[in-house]
Amino acid sequence: MTTTDDKTIVKDYFNATGFDRWRRIYGDGEVNKVQQDIRIGHQQTIDTVLEWLESDGNLQDLTICDAGCGVGSLSIPLAQAGAKVFASDISEKMVAEAQMRSQEVLNNTNNPVFSVQDLEQLSGKYHTVICLDVLIHYPAEEAAKMIAHLSSLAKSRLIISFAPKLFGFLY
Ligand SMILES: C[S@@+](CC[C@H](N)C(=O)[O-])C[C@H]1O[C@@H](n2cnc3c(N)ncnc32)[C@H](O)[C@@H]1O
Repeated sequence: MTTTDDKTIVKDYFNATGFDRWRRIYGDGEVNKVQQDIRIGHQQTIDTVLEWLESDGNLQDLTICDAGCGVGSLSIPLAQAGAKVFASDISEKMVAEAQMRSQEVLNNTNNPVFSVQDLEQLSGKYHTVICLDVLIHYPAEEAAKMIAHLSSLAKSRLIISFAPKLFGFLY
């Protein structure tokens, strides 16, 4: 399978059934037991990253790139805490949802800046680059290239997370 094929499949998924599924998981409505476990684990990841970044006490001075931002679960609290956030996602629907959630809590600021973009198209330099739970969707070789690209954008650090691949697992 080519890189383009993988990305097309992932993009189509996150603009259709994947969008509905993950928007629900990353919300506060009712979900099934497995989705509830994913929601709790995801929130723990978000809280951990926020704690790491806040512990340095300089968030207001930082530029942060949230690559594959989803519905803005990390970008929005980072912007609320004063960081300058550039948030992007390959899925238009995810970006639209993130913008809507951002408007609700941040009341029409220009931070975060949202963009629909494949993470390998991103350019510029950011103090910190973050990519949470995105690489699971790609084979190891492609994920390695993505990590290399994201590293090239980071002036100081790259934070990534990924879940173990679980075969035949439905939720
Ligand atoms: C499981 S969600 C995680 C969202 C967010 N990082 C979080 O932790 O809340 C995976 C996200 O990665 C996005 N994604 C997948 N491949 C991507 C790519 N090549 N470039 C940018 N975003 C991508 C999907 O559209 C989806 O929104």
